[in-house]
Amino acid sequence: MLNYPRVAIDFMNNDHAEFVALRKHLLDLLHTGADHAQVDAMLDHLLEHTRLHFAEEEQLMLSVKFPPYPMHKGEHDKVLDDMAARVEAWRTARNVTALSDWLEHAVRDWFVNHVSSMDFVTAAYIQAHRPA
Ligand SMILES: [Fe+2]
Repeated sequence: MLNYPRVAIDFMNNDHAEFVALRKHLLDLLHTGADHAQVDAMLDHLLEHTRLHFAEEEQLMLSVKFPPYPMHKGEHDKVLDDMAARVEAWRTARNVTALSDWLEHAVRDWFVNHVSSMDFVTAAYIQAHRPA
């Protein structure tokens, strides 16, 4: 179980729950020795989900002129680059241990940390500043 807070915007909470489920599904696939095509498809799904979720958050931040937008956007870009590189490395090396370790530790730590800090603050700001 991942321990992270609910934020003030519902679609963000729904997306976060979906991200957690996707990560778990991927780890289950890797632990049960699923074939590579299934893992590839789930990784594409995770990447696409993350891309869309970040884009939606960024739209909202811009719509309320969120002052630390560049910082939050910079973090998203960094994470997407890293995720894309990990997926590419997996497609090249097919290293189950490396992919599981990344999902198990780095992705967990990043996710919990990002939701608890940037997303939490950002959602509260958007909630307070968006037009009724
Ligand atoms: Fe975010």
